[in-house]
Amino acid sequence: MAAQTRIGLAGLAVMGQNLALNIAEKGFAVSVYNRTTSKVDETVERAKEEGNLPLYGFYDPESFVQSIQKPRVIIILVKAGRPVDETIKTLSAYMEKGDCIIDGGNEWYENTERREKEMTERGLLYLGMGVSGGEEGARNGPSLMPGGSFEAFKNIEDIVLKVSAQVPDSGPCVTYIGTGGSGNFVKMVHNGIEYGDMQLISEAYDVLKNIGKLSNDELKEVFSEWNKGELLSFLVEITADIFGIKDDKADGYLVDKVLDKTGMKGTGKWTVQQAADLSVAAPTIASSLDSRFLSGLKEERVQAAKVFKSGGVDEILSNQAVDKKKLIDDVRQALYASKICSYAQGMNLLRAKSVEKGWGLKLGELARIWKGGCIIRAIFLDRIKQAYDRNSELANLLVDPEFAKEMIERQAAWRRVVCLAVNAGISTPGMSSSLAYFDSYRRESLPANLVQAQRDYFGAHTYERIDMPGAFHTEWFKIAKQSKI
Ligand SMILES: *[C@@H]1O[C@H](CO)[C@@H](O)[C@H](O)[C@H]1NC(C)=O
Repeated sequence: MAAQTRIGLAGLAVMGQNLALNIAEKGFAVSVYNRTTSKVDETVERAKEEGNLPLYGFYDPESFVQSIQKPRVIIILVKAGRPVDETIKTLSAYMEKGDCIIDGGNEWYENTERREKEMTERGLLYLGMGVSGGEEGARNGPSLMPGGSFEAFKNIEDIVLKVSAQVPDSGPCVTYIGTGGSGNFVKMVHNGIEYGDMQLISEAYDVLKNIGKLSNDELKEVFSEWNKGELLSFLVEITADIFGIKDDKADGYLVDKVLDKTGMKGTGKWTVQQAADLSVAAPTIASSLDSRFLSGLKEERVQAAKVFKSGGVDEILSNQAVDKKKLIDDVRQALYASKICSYAQGMNLLRAKSVEKGWGLKLGELARIWKGGCIIRAIFLDRIKQAYDRNSELANLLVDPEFAKEMIERQAAWRRVVCLAVNAGISTPGMSSSLAYFDSYRRESLPANLVQAQRDYFGAHTYERIDMPGAFHTEWFKIAKQSKI
């Protein structure tokens, strides 16, 4: 290798390898490094096989860093937390003023802010860049969410514009998100929304399978059909695929053999914690997290199912006659309406954080860069972008005129599905909590007057009145005591 490369990538697990190959394929010479030398060889080999891509492997950090043209740009893709600090320490030892480090992992945004500060003190630029799309996205076009130093973003803008997913009519799925840890934060909420989407889809599956008695073949057909309309999305598409895949170890379909225990890595939990910290209601996302916790209690659920055997779900279900076709259509509408609530929650969380941190997030622009490459990519995001284009100050997606109309059209079907599920003993925490969110948000008056009265009664927390300004306190206890005499 004679000339210097344009960019470096350290950390060659699957995501790193694929992103490096993607960058090289777009014509940017890339240096790659991993402490484990076999990973370097593997990546170099793949670059050869995939068409002699301009990718060069290095076994030691110093020659890796020096192979990159100045100002140097290095993307690191290692496990979040300590490994990121260690990799930064190793590489930055050879880097110079004006060079730039980009962390592409699912990092907690405050870690990014801490590192950006540390790097700034040493004259280095820093970006925390959310990368979504899994292995396939990394290789063929992910959604990229870079936040941090704007100068650093400018250094890689030409690369990320080409490497990211390209969506006709809306452009490359990348934008400068904002300062500090905003890129990581936006990716975190993206993942929280992804939790919600997956939970809602699983509830649709549960209702159709256990109340509608649909077979896997029928489910495949239903989800394929849904993927042609307003629900068109990556997650609905792969769901249809899953129902068609036969077990390779025994008879039947693979999905029926998968243990009902969902794993998690933390971004969903962080999303819910942040929502609580910022007093933003995010019940759909929270219920998807709770569902994962409950799924983990497999052994306890097996025991509980025995305890509640008599009068259980099967008994209730056998007394139901359902119109399959109508149920399928109702569930489609319930899924869509719930999804609007879930995205409304995620967007409101992003806005609240943006206000707190002064990030100036553009919600419509975020919807745009999620239209391709990432796991939550969906035709529906175009509608969200349009809603924020119509009104960037929109208080809640639910009250956008277009979405409001869709909610009104779907609420009857939505209520039918939730009622049916409740009566059948099939839990639909995502759909039910979405509906409760909608029903609370759309009501002028809530029973919160009673809660506030109780608070003033026992804790003198005062209350406001509907008919005059000011803070009031009443000696509820005294008055109640007198009236008891
Ligand atoms: C190299 O690869 C190993 C896995 O084989 C990984 O644990 C490590 O973090 C990678 N990254 C770097 C920068 O060495």
